[in-house]
Amino acid sequence: MGVLDSFRLTGKTAFVTGGSRGLGRAMAQALAEAGADLVLVGRDADSLAVARAELCELGRQVHTVTADVSTPAGAKSACDSALSLGVPIDVLVNNVGGRRLDVPTEDFPLDEWQRMYDLNLTAALVCCQELGKPMLARGTGSVINVTSIAGPIAIKGIRGRHYESAKAALAALTRSLGADWATRGVRVNAIAPGVFETDPNKKWFATKPDFRDSFLEHIPMGRFGVPPELGPAVVFLASDASSYMTAATLVIDGGFTAW
Ligand SMILES: NC(=O)c1ccc[n+]([C@@H]2O[C@H](COP(=O)([O-])OP(=O)(O)OC[C@H]3O[C@@H](n4cnc5c(N)ncnc54)[C@H](OP(=O)(O)O)[C@@H]3O)[C@@H](O)[C@H]2O)c1
Repeated sequence: MGVLDSFRLTGKTAFVTGGSRGLGRAMAQALAEAGADLVLVGRDADSLAVARAELCELGRQVHTVTADVSTPAGAKSACDSALSLGVPIDVLVNNVGGRRLDVPTEDFPLDEWQRMYDLNLTAALVCCQELGKPMLARGTGSVINVTSIAGPIAIKGIRGRHYESAKAALAALTRSLGADWATRGVRVNAIAPGVFETDPNKKWFATKPDFRDSFLEHIPMGRFGVPPELGPAVVFLASDASSYMTAATLVIDGGFTAW
């Protein structure tokens, strides 16, 4: 197989949480361009329908699942819907997550802490359980968890360390599950994005313009990432191109964590 052929995903199906907008939408596009059929998960049926219509133009099968993965029951129901399609899920992209709250840690309500952990960590665990088990039974599969540079470092100027803690835990889950499943044909890796100007960040920046400038100043490349810049990495991790890679994290941050 030639090197470019090893990136091909023809005949595979990828399940992408949060695949209707933002980074998940860009990763779904890249996976489809590489040949994969898709199962896109989101809460809003209209955004899913728009993404589906656009991605179908690439000639792939695109299924949508309307579900809120922020509760363990919601995440399980999303997986059940995908499994009921009767096609093997070869690639799992656990993309849903977010900071959502800017509250000092000393005042952070415990119920919100749990809610944020369910969103950023438990959703991924449940999808790993529900879709990982059939992958293990088939002896093949690739899981890609979307962590953040806020796992290994604390982001300056913003509060609510639920995000840093949960993303660090997701990175740890990636490492340990990758090792556990390494001889069973299922690889588990992560992508840790730096700062991309998706809707949640646009909202933060609108309320804190200085924050945007200080971020830009801190990024060695001097700019934010654009979502399609995650596409090649997700195709690499989803495909045989990364066949000797598991329990690892690819950092895509314009150099943010270098200083
Ligand atoms: N943007 C960045 O700079 C950045 C940096 C580092 C890490 N990340 C991580 O990358 C991931 C994606 O970030 P993003 O900025 O693209 O986020 P986003 O814009 O909030 O992602 C939106 C997508 O997620 C879906 N979604 C949100 N909550 C959901 C839920 N509870 N259940 C099901 N679907 C849900 C949305 O659809 P609905 O609204 O219709 O549900 C939409 O498809 C997150 O894990 C984030 O922490 C982002």
